[in-house]
Amino acid sequence: MSQKDIIILGIESSCDDTSAAVIKNEAILSNIIAGQEIHKIYGGVVPELASRAHQQNIIPVVDTAIKKAGISLQDIDAVAFTKGPGLLGSLVVGTSFAKSFALALNIPMLDVNHMHGHVLAHFIDDEGKAKPKFPFICLTVSGGHTQIVLVKDYLEMEVIGQTIDDAAGEAFDKAAKTLGFPYPGGPLIDKHAKLGNPDRFEFSKPQINGYDYSFSGLKTSILYFIQKQVRENPNFIEENLNDLCASIQKTIIEILFKKLILAAKDLKINQIAIAGGVSANSGLRSKLSEIGIQKKWDVYIPKFEFCTDNAAMIAITGKYMYKNDIFADQTVTAMARLKI
Ligand code: KG4
Ligand code: ZN
Repeated sequence: MSQKDIIILGIESSCDDTSAAVIKNEAILSNIIAGQEIHKIYGGVVPELASRAHQQNIIPVVDTAIKKAGISLQDIDAVAFTKGPGLLGSLVVGTSFAKSFALALNIPMLDVNHMHGHVLAHFIDDEGKAKPKFPFICLTVSGGHTQIVLVKDYLEMEVIGQTIDDAAGEAFDKAAKTLGFPYPGGPLIDKHAKLGNPDRFEFSKPQINGYDYSFSGLKTSILYFIQKQVRENPNFIEENLNDLCASIQKTIIEILFKKLILAAKDLKINQIAIAGGVSANSGLRSKLSEIGIQKKWDVYIPKFEFCTDNAAMIAITGKYMYKNDIFADQTVTAMARLKI
């Protein structure tokens, strides 16, 4: 007997990307993302401006996602939205939109944890690409989070290690700012790192117990090193940009892998995934493949479009909540802080 198809509209607005996606079971019919250029000039996301841009973008983004999916409103079984964690003013836009949408169409709502979304992006259908088997470990690295997550089932996850200060994405972005790059600088460090020597400069690495991370010491060590060099040679950054990027990237990746390897060994798990914006980093991706071969891990690396914030990951998470009858009602509110 064939099961009924489930069509879900997903909405993501936790930070500075307004996104809407339509999925049918595990297949994506559309995934529209509107970024916000406005933050570039400020060197970081300005919450009030992000919220305003979400308000402008949300209707055209949802409209485009539905049209591109080739479905009608009546086909949608439920609306999934990011409840948190994230910027409150941004989350409120997606949450309020989802509430009105659900009320107007008389369909259920699914309040998704953004971090579940990053992890479950691995279950989006992708031309026969293998999906992780439970239990697996997911290194979830974004602008706001750095977590080692033990994923026991679709909606059963435990954070076993996390940053005690800055996130890995912040380490990339702050180092990039020191080098004079606009926000977000992570992708620019990646681009220049490809042309540089990763062993040219050494930066300090944290000594933290267990599976936790710390990136604030690295940020300070990069800042002091660059300030000192620039005092001696004002052209130091330009003359060494590629090597600086490659060395910074290598240090961040080494810090990330030290704890990931430890966790995989202690838990005796060889299903290893990465997720979140920083998982788009080419150095991190190739290092995971390399270590995976060495350690006999099965590694899972998301497609680029599902690394950074997107609504497809919210829709697929919503699908698993739908199947488990985990619905929200009209009293639901956005939450800036929300545990996995
Ligand atoms: O998951 P995401 O889109 O948003 C959050 O939930 O935070 O992650 C954004 C972060 C930013 O810090 C950005 O610099 C970083 O991901 N990022 C990268 C790359 N692409 C995005 N960092 C390093 N290399 C990249 N290629
Ligand atoms: Zn994210």
